[in-house]
Amino acid sequence: MKNGLFITFEGTDGCGKTTQMKLLAEYLKNNGKNVVLTREPGGKGLGEKVREILLNYKGPVSDRCESFLFLADRAQNIDIIVNPAVDEGKIVLCDRHIDSTVAYQGYGRGLDIERINMLNGIATNGRKPDLTFVFDIDVETSMKRVGKEKDRMESAGIDFHNRVRHGYLELAKQEPQRIKVLDATKSIEQIHTEVIKIYTEYCSIN
Ligand code: TYD
Repeated sequence: MKNGLFITFEGTDGCGKTTQMKLLAEYLKNNGKNVVLTREPGGKGLGEKVREILLNYKGPVSDRCESFLFLADRAQNIDIIVNPAVDEGKIVLCDRHIDSTVAYQGYGRGLDIERINMLNGIATNGRKPDLTFVFDIDVETSMKRVGKEKDRMESAGIDFHNRVRHGYLELAKQEPQRIKVLDATKSIEQIHTEVIKIYTEYCSIN
């Protein structure tokens, strides 16, 4: 592959995106592809420190501060991990990215979506995912999967997570070429088969 590929995995907490990302990575590696895995917040080094603050800080966090921390982590992830790997022709799979900020801080927290789009553009320096999977699931089921031990974001409540879910579905309507919605209540194997189908279709037309 001359140019690499940047694929992101999105959805509400407990939707199973991380499992599906790992399965796709395995499939791609078995097919001889060079794959890099990363996540937001996180990735490695400084990104993991920002993740720790975002998920576990116990004091008050303003919505705007929260947004900027996610965006700072994103800039680091793009510059240090994503762009170098894609430029080398690798396939980068990223657990959450720009759409998380629109869904969580925009639809969830109620911050202005136009401004988030603008800030996302700065954080990514214009790089956009080639393909995005959204794993859609009702919030009651996903919160049961998350269990009782919830981090700061997971503790934000049912209404918040319903708004996030709605946000993802709206985004998918706006960008149907890039964002593919999958029913995350299906079995892991069924969803994996659909992910591969979508990936293969993407590769056949691009
Ligand atoms: P995640 O990695 O999915 O956590 P988990 O360890 O449960 O898999 O995501 C961390 C949390 O951060 C999740 O609740 C979503 C939230 N988040 C935002 O609110 N905005 C963002 O821009 C990003 C990337 C994540």
